[in-house]
Amino acid sequence: MKKQTTTTPKLDFTSKWAYAPSPESTDHVQLKEQYDLFINGKWVKPVKGKYFDTVNPATEKKLASVAEATQEDVDKAVKAARAAYENVWSKMPAKERAKYIYRIARMIQERAREFAVIESMDGGKAIRESRDVDVPLAAAHFFYYAGWADKLEYAFPGKTVSPVGVAGQIIPWNFPLLMAAWKIAPALATGNTVVLKPAETTPLTALKLAEIIKESGLPDGVVNIITGAGATGAAIVNHPGIDKIAFTGSTDVGKLIQKAIAGTNKKLTLELGGKAANIIFEDAPIDQAVEGIVNGIFFNQGHVCCAGSRLFVQEGVADVVIRKLKDRLESLIVGDPLDKNTDIGAINSKGQLETIKKYIKIGINEGAEMYQSSCAIPSKGFFVRPTLFTNVSQSHTISREEIFGPVLAIQTFRTVEEVIEKANNTPYGLSAGVWTDKGSKIFSLTTKLRAGVIWANTYNKFDPTSPFGGFKESGFGREGGLHGLAPYLVMN
Ligand code: NAI
Ligand code: MG
Repeated sequence: MKKQTTTTPKLDFTSKWAYAPSPESTDHVQLKEQYDLFINGKWVKPVKGKYFDTVNPATEKKLASVAEATQEDVDKAVKAARAAYENVWSKMPAKERAKYIYRIARMIQERAREFAVIESMDGGKAIRESRDVDVPLAAAHFFYYAGWADKLEYAFPGKTVSPVGVAGQIIPWNFPLLMAAWKIAPALATGNTVVLKPAETTPLTALKLAEIIKESGLPDGVVNIITGAGATGAAIVNHPGIDKIAFTGSTDVGKLIQKAIAGTNKKLTLELGGKAANIIFEDAPIDQAVEGIVNGIFFNQGHVCCAGSRLFVQEGVADVVIRKLKDRLESLIVGDPLDKNTDIGAINSKGQLETIKKYIKIGINEGAEMYQSSCAIPSKGFFVRPTLFTNVSQSHTISREEIFGPVLAIQTFRTVEEVIEKANNTPYGLSAGVWTDKGSKIFSLTTKLRAGVIWANTYNKFDPTSPFGGFKESGFGREGGLHGLAPYLVMN
């Protein structure tokens, strides 16, 4: 018998977290070289014949070219949606409508792997997120709203409800498929038809969804998916044939939209930016809280409107929380979004990477103390190391403005009153997190924090049954849950 030789592994700190690469295969992914517009159940060429590229932010390589819809195309899509609304969809019995929505949910599940890989390729998010969060939640959203379609009279007892008509829906690049589901599912369940525009850097999963919608046999024109940048979005907003706008994106564009539709009859919901406070009390379960902080801000590259970007730690535990956070930062893997071990993928675009780097510089220049993970990052593609700042004050830019990247601003506090005042001292009000052992403290805080969603002893948890939306400059209207039906209905 051959003598077994054992070699003691070399203790190398830098390779402590090194896993063998485990990239998800892209073999099963079918992408076209060029995508046209999905209008009236058909793929049609843009009137002006213009296309733009969507790239993979992890490799900077082109994935496909995508049609740029102009006003003429928007007009076609709105007319198709109107005709489908009047002739088919609003007349169809609700339980029949529900069957289509269920079918779309089932088909998303069947193609879940393909959706997850395309989402990670086009947007840069880690496959772990797209596979375990985005795609299952998108399917869950269609399932959930399919269930409501024939029960609207029970959702709003004593009211007579009817659909609004044609909904124009504009979505961002941070959760491309999930935001499409958040928008389309409740609109269809309530009997509306849709013109949806995904973000210009992440159009591919919405276009894949269009393929599914076609296969599902949904009547032509009920869902139209058109691509383009801000000008295409503005053409949807300004089209007189649109009855309702649903927008998720930046506060600046939200304000533009609100101005643009002032004086018209269009209904509006806005889901805009955030600067959420994640609050850790001395009696919190510290290790879980550290995971919650990491999940709250480094999850999805920090491209999350409800990200816990402001951390408030009670003084007595500040040192231990910060030490544990720094240790945890070192263990995060930044790199190939398609690798199953990756925690933090690529920043969605070069522009967004520059914005994040600009804020990191401002943080340093204004006197906050920066700590970055020492991890290696790929030389190609748009990547940034997870970053935290200590010695931050309320007046620092990094604690006031939305960065939309993996950058955490840490402050300390002594009393409950102090932290409530600090947490509410922001123009935003989308979400917050509270970590404590005491239920009474949670309830007292949740009534005083001005935020639409408050997580207790957890963070960034989503469910289709739970409404989501903000206060102040984070927008208005709710998506998800029973509340998410209301913006798509006229009630009498
Ligand atoms: P954006 O607000 O420009 O883009 C969101 C969507 O709106 C895209 O589909 C875009 O094509 C469309 N759009 C742009 N201009 C429009 C207009 N005038 N009328 C109608 N639609 C228009 O966001 P951007 O520039 O990609 O990101 C900038 C910042 O916005 C980020 O750094 C982040 O702070 C914030 N943001 C917040 C999001 C959220 O989920 N609340 C999502 C994306 C960005
Ligand atoms: Mg892209």
